[in-house]
Amino acid sequence: MSTIEERTDPIDVAAVKADFPLLAREIKGRPIVYLDSAATSQKPRSVIEAMTGYYETINANVHRGVYEIAEASTNALEDARAATARFIGASSPNEIVFTKNATEGLNLVARSWGGANLRSGDAVLLTQLEHHANIVPWFQIAAEKGVEIRWIPLTADGKLDLTDLDRLLDGVKMVGLSAMSNVTGTLTPVRRITDAAHAAGALVSLDACQFVPHLPTDVAKLGADFASFSGHKMCGPTGIGVLWGREALLDAMPPFLGGGGMILDVSLDGWIPADLPAKFEAGTPPIAEAVGLHAAIDYLSGIGMDAVRRHEVTLTGYALRTLRERFGDQITIHGPSEPAERGGVMSLAMEGIHPHDLAQVLDEHAVCIRPGHHCAKPLMKVLGVGATARASFYVYNDETDVDALAEALDAAAGFFSF
Ligand code: ALA
Repeated sequence: MSTIEERTDPIDVAAVKADFPLLAREIKGRPIVYLDSAATSQKPRSVIEAMTGYYETINANVHRGVYEIAEASTNALEDARAATARFIGASSPNEIVFTKNATEGLNLVARSWGGANLRSGDAVLLTQLEHHANIVPWFQIAAEKGVEIRWIPLTADGKLDLTDLDRLLDGVKMVGLSAMSNVTGTLTPVRRITDAAHAAGALVSLDACQFVPHLPTDVAKLGADFASFSGHKMCGPTGIGVLWGREALLDAMPPFLGGGGMILDVSLDGWIPADLPAKFEAGTPPIAEAVGLHAAIDYLSGIGMDAVRRHEVTLTGYALRTLRERFGDQITIHGPSEPAERGGVMSLAMEGIHPHDLAQVLDEHAVCIRPGHHCAKPLMKVLGVGATARASFYVYNDETDVDALAEALDAAAGFFSF
């Protein structure tokens, strides 16, 4: 039994909110209600200060200079890599590749692993929940290689329908799987799917972009082979993402981009790639961004990812109850009805109001939500809508934000009821 007592006290959201400078501002004379963290999260002061501090004291390129600040900069980048590895339970920092964003990680897997391993007649299995970032790269490689794309369908409440999983996996070499939908918040049964995929001889590339910021992540327990996520959705900066992959797989894959930093040697006759992880990091990496990501990981770890998840389950439950009680049949909330089966991402439809009009009226109330297809057009088609209005919660949101959302939705319903 673990001797470490897990914290079970609720998060002090007021204190957390005070850590985020942007959340102190007003929009149109009202306090901002930021409900778009699935698009990008806000940044705590510690992240902003870490990046400013980096630029003010040790800014230099990495893995090149031998002078003091160049070594400090290299150490800062590699410390961030080690912290990222610990945060997700990776076996080694060599399994952490810094990318531009999650999209680049997912493309790297499709291009590099897919380019080397897919053959005509193979199949790739995706889910109807996927973001375009885990669809388009597979379409691209499939067109080049003559590979079939198959889809795991959805149940009526937005969960994966695994009835035919074994049949769908027949002949599949790779499964592209979202761990948590950016539209419905659906948490997918990652372990069940990775076990079935491995039994069928397939690997799994996880889009963990909405998962890692919101739930404790242990890549060993999830069982996938690759996982991609972005810094900017987890209190870190834009411009940095992470691809985690099993070391043996990454080791066997060809580089994705060529250039400085990713070679062991170059001659007039050719080149030899560097070892991991440099092999996949051509050009100057996102150094200040890695420093910011490290500060974000420290910030979230200070709160505790178990506590972050518990807070979001409670808040999502409150939001589901509040909106259903207040709006009844007037509102559709896509996705699973149980908070335990979803994250704090809520796609809404208000009867007779276009999502873009809804978002516009909500903006008048300083409530920030995202309308649109959320880069998941196949899912929109399955849901039978062109767009949704999406509210998404994070560790700095509380019941007052949900109440403000409900008030603004009420105002929109009144405004459009003529
Ligand atoms: N993928 C991000 C979203 O869902 C941008 O909004």
